[in-house]
Amino acid sequence: GISITEMFKAHNTSLTYNDFNIFPGFIDFAVHAVDLTTHLTKKITIRAPLISSPMDTVTEHEMAITMACHLQLHGGIGIIHANFPTPADQANEVSKVKRYKQGFIISPQCIKSDDSVLDLFEIKQKFGFTGTPVTDTGKVGGKLLGLVTSRDIDFIKESRYKTTKISEVMVPRDRLITGGEELELPDAYNILEKEKKGKLPIVNANDELVALIARTDLKKSRDFPQSSYDKKGQLMVGAAINTRENSKKTVELLVEAGVDVLIIDSSNGASAYQVKLLKWIKETYSQVEVIAGNVVTMKQAKLLIDSGADALRIGMGSGSICITQEVMAVGRAQGSAVFQVARYARSRGVPVIADGGIRDVGYITKAISLGASTVMMGGLLAGTNEAPGEYFWGPNGLRLKKYRGMGSIDAMEAHSTSQDRYFTSDDAIKVAQGVTATMRDRGTCHKFLPYLIRGIQHGFQDIGVRSLNELHSKVYDGTIKFELRSQNAQLEGGVHSLHSYEKPMY
Ligand code: XMP
Repeated sequence: GISITEMFKAHNTSLTYNDFNIFPGFIDFAVHAVDLTTHLTKKITIRAPLISSPMDTVTEHEMAITMACHLQLHGGIGIIHANFPTPADQANEVSKVKRYKQGFIISPQCIKSDDSVLDLFEIKQKFGFTGTPVTDTGKVGGKLLGLVTSRDIDFIKESRYKTTKISEVMVPRDRLITGGEELELPDAYNILEKEKKGKLPIVNANDELVALIARTDLKKSRDFPQSSYDKKGQLMVGAAINTRENSKKTVELLVEAGVDVLIIDSSNGASAYQVKLLKWIKETYSQVEVIAGNVVTMKQAKLLIDSGADALRIGMGSGSICITQEVMAVGRAQGSAVFQVARYARSRGVPVIADGGIRDVGYITKAISLGASTVMMGGLLAGTNEAPGEYFWGPNGLRLKKYRGMGSIDAMEAHSTSQDRYFTSDDAIKVAQGVTATMRDRGTCHKFLPYLIRGIQHGFQDIGVRSLNELHSKVYDGTIKFELRSQNAQLEGGVHSLHSYEKPMY
């Protein structure tokens, strides 16, 4: 095998994750002994090197909450996208993560009292819930009017689904047991247990619904242990901003909402706009960490580190939905970009994020082996329950969710903020740098994230290292060896020579 420096020196073309393998090392520890704690930025440490991308089909509050805290393992972090109608909407998503208390469902699916039982069945079919709060607006935040559960509609004949109103079957407000906003989880559990109820609506002083507590979630949450918490014990969350002049107002709102880290979201970080904004944020809000990018060269990295970046995001055109390299003729293969930028950033004490092109768990381990401290994923998370958007059935009978590039025409037309990432907001002629696609249903992140984490731990165990620090030190001092893969070797490394097989989703 060869050292990482030799591997990149020997090859005059760019390399990416698929072009190499890491040699196995000696195992004398259990897989659980692998500690994945890492630096997101100079000051922020997270327990798993996983970040969800600030894309409008990937990260809103639900994904961010799940990334930061999930069952039995440690936390990563979610970055709320910037493609909302107003900056206040984005700040509200940050607040939802900050206000999150384990076991509290803060965006429960609701229904109106004059909706029909048929409407309720549709909600049930789509979201699978068993107890639905009834509010005057049909949404969380509306006045609580009642609660309707499966038991309330058990005996209604199918022929009457359409004509029976929710108000006729629901348990009305005056017969409902509810909790106030200040209620703590153990007390909520006691109430549910004592009253033998499945759901406990939480209301504010105006009797508006603010959350729902589910007995089943509570049972699960008893063994929620380690998560990504800030100093106040709230979950950590990031948010993306763009380089427009009015971003300053957005930054103010996000900081007020308690954001821990901002990502300046741009396809090419080396711009006068980004440098100006970055310096302004660092001067104005010294407590907020700022991730700058995207970059793929050392020169870009130097510019942003000199301007105050607390971490860098690496990638240009390597994402699954990206067409930047084809349309702009600009970009870099992700392996070379991560190796070159990470090596330079390490010499300046700045952590880097490998952003895009992660197809499976092995790609995460490879990205880290090239020097990344964390890995950002879009496509890999887009088909999960926690990603925004609803599932739909594809023509081939598969359950699908939409996933779109932030530089796709679709996303740019949705809100102009998406255009700023690609410097096209003032232009009537749009040049797309991404596509709109679909992803297969991957189920819940509560299962998928533990799978990713355990998968990385297995990779580290095979390499013979117990932590990211150890991996990075041994990569840079040449102890860990790499080898390039020929095209035939790549074919051999994949599934081959079978009549048929089914690839596991994870
Ligand atoms: P994956 O491979 O995880 O990539 O799906 C997600 C990353 O891709 C970037 N991104 C884009 N790049 N055109 C691009 O060239 C786009 O429309 C686009 N949208 C997202 C972004 O860095 C994201 O984290």
